Amino acid sequence: MRKGNSKKEKVEGKLVKQYTVSEILDKVTSYLKREGIPEPGIDAGVLLAHVLEIERLEIYLNLDCRVTEKELSAYKKLIERRVKREPVAFIVGYKEFMGLKFFLNKHVLIPRPETEILVEKVIEKAQNIRKSESYGYGRDSSLTIVDLCTGSGNIAISLARNIASCKIYAIDISEGAIQVARRNARFHKVEGRVEFLLGDLFSPLEELNSDLAVDFVVSNPPYVKSRDLVLLPPEIKKEPLSALEGGNEGLNFYQRIIPEALKYLIDGGYLIMEIGDYQGKAVMNLIKKEKQFYPSQLVKDYAGLDRVVVAQKLRKGGQ
Ligand SMILES: C[S@@+](CC[C@H](N)C(=O)[O-])C[C@H]1O[C@@H](n2cnc3c(N)ncnc32)[C@H](O)[C@@H]1O
Repeated sequence: MRKGNSKKEKVEGKLVKQYTVSEILDKVTSYLKREGIPEPGIDAGVLLAHVLEIERLEIYLNLDCRVTEKELSAYKKLIERRVKREPVAFIVGYKEFMGLKFFLNKHVLIPRPETEILVEKVIEKAQNIRKSESYGYGRDSSLTIVDLCTGSGNIAISLARNIASCKIYAIDISEGAIQVARRNARFHKVEGRVEFLLGDLFSPLEELNSDLAVDFVVSNPPYVKSRDLVLLPPEIKKEPLSALEGGNEGLNFYQRIIPEALKYLIDGGYLIMEIGDYQGKAVMNLIKKEKQFYPSQLVKDYAGLDRVVVAQKLRKGGQ
């Protein structure tokens, strides 16, 4: 990118017109709009900022700068990928979650803003536990957390960054996902506190240590009904199917996680899971059926839809 002056650049002996950031954004936004891309202006800006190696908001401080031929050609390639409905997060290779940068590739789900609600709930409960005498924990006691279906590690790593003393076991069935999550943990310097395990839900814990006393089981499992997969927008269809499909009613993972979590949770420990907006009642019923939890609660997302379910395991002898 260059400040003002010449409007032409010499490329392989020929004079080529150089466009300003502003001209390019206008043209590309219209093009993406015509192609039916849902947020054309935002995507045009994010991708141009990526090519120019600046923050997105800096784009607007550089509207009169000229984009070089090399930058333009790199930008065109990214725009063509976007037109083929590849999600922006996969094109740039990362997504922000809880104010942290998470590297991504085709093996992992792109972290969603709604999932931050789950993370915030766990942080809040962890802070309460540390204050609560009945739980029997001091401020410095370490908490044990299991994150099932960890994907890019966004939940586990955000918790490790926000809860002072904790050990987290983060599990995923996809080797590709575990590799991405380990990279993210190294990047955020929490690899000593988050242990990534490959396997089916709780099974890696059975091999690890049968006496594990877990304070929190957390999860954002796949929860899309199998028949609804065809209805998903093309961008979401580029994400791994194994990260989305939750069986006929979208409840397969909850049906397994809820009873199994009871084997690992200590009395008074929490099971906190993300759910589909229509699944609140069904998941609460599954929890109730076990008769070993206090009445569960639903937490709504920013759109006012049911998004997170919070259940606490009964303490022996009441309270
Ligand atoms: C909805 S994604 C959640 C990813 C991440 N935790 C997040 O919140 O963005 C679900 C994840 O579950 C993983 N998964 C699917 N089946 C699994 C299983 N049986 N055991 C463990 N992980 C599984 C997928 O590989 C995927 O990474």
